[in-house]
Amino acid sequence: MIRATNGGPAHALKGISFDAGSPLPEGKAKQDLVRSLFDSIAPRYDLVNCLMTFGLDAPWRRRTIEILQLSPGSVVLDIGCGTGDLARSLRRKGQQPVGIDLSLGMLTAAHAGGAPLVQADAAALPLRTAAADAVVSGFAVRNFADLPGVMKEVGRVLRPGGRLALLEVGEPRGRLLRLGHRVWFTHVVPRLGALLSDGAAYRYLPRSVAYLPSFSEFASLLGDAGFSDVKHHPLSGCIAQCVTATRSTDSAKP
Ligand SMILES: C[S@@+](CC[C@H](N)C(=O)[O-])C[C@H]1O[C@@H](n2cnc3c(N)ncnc32)[C@H](O)[C@@H]1O
Repeated sequence: MIRATNGGPAHALKGISFDAGSPLPEGKAKQDLVRSLFDSIAPRYDLVNCLMTFGLDAPWRRRTIEILQLSPGSVVLDIGCGTGDLARSLRRKGQQPVGIDLSLGMLTAAHAGGAPLVQADAAALPLRTAAADAVVSGFAVRNFADLPGVMKEVGRVLRPGGRLALLEVGEPRGRLLRLGHRVWFTHVVPRLGALLSDGAAYRYLPRSVAYLPSFSEFASLLGDAGFSDVKHHPLSGCIAQCVTATRSTDSAKP
């Protein structure tokens, strides 16, 4: 693992309220919080993730990779790779993934099947321009403190024609499913998190959905970052969603 200095204060979670109505942090405060939060929940991240999604997170990640239809041996960046599930699946499929994450705790707990892991900010990738054939990300979009900056940086490191797939939580479509989902995420998941990991961190999870742009906002942000062919793929009744795009070959774009 290539390790950077772990800049964020280890106590960033202390004194921050994740209760409904309290303001969510932005900019550097958000980045410090996200890093500390994931450092803190890393040891039990996979277990809680699997329980809170009823094991659906694994098929969602598989689908995210399938949608891209990559050629064997493609160089694929997994940004916000966490414990490396996407990177491991990519390795198994004969791709060449590289995992990037801010949190040293998550990288230390990772099981990425031997993929190289780098501690870095996705908004300042230590990679040359057009180095990657594809970029994937699982449940990290709402955690990026500078989403437009990350998308611009992803546009820089992707080769023209390169593919992007961003997996995230969604907003279920049916009324009943939406109600069940809300009760589960706002009442059950924080208790599950408190029992098995860190209650404060798992109170942040349902609130962090507020950072997600709508699909049309996302499409315009991706357009500004040099992407075209932006598509939305609902998963499991839109409990989760995947947004895909292609790096434009138009040289006028960044
Ligand atoms: C919810 S976890 C997702 C982990 C994994 N991708 C998965 O599918 O389970 C979000 C990850 O994004 C990382 N992250 C947040 N902001 C980041 C940034 N600016 N650069 C790199 N990683 C970041 C966090 O440290 C965390 O590990």
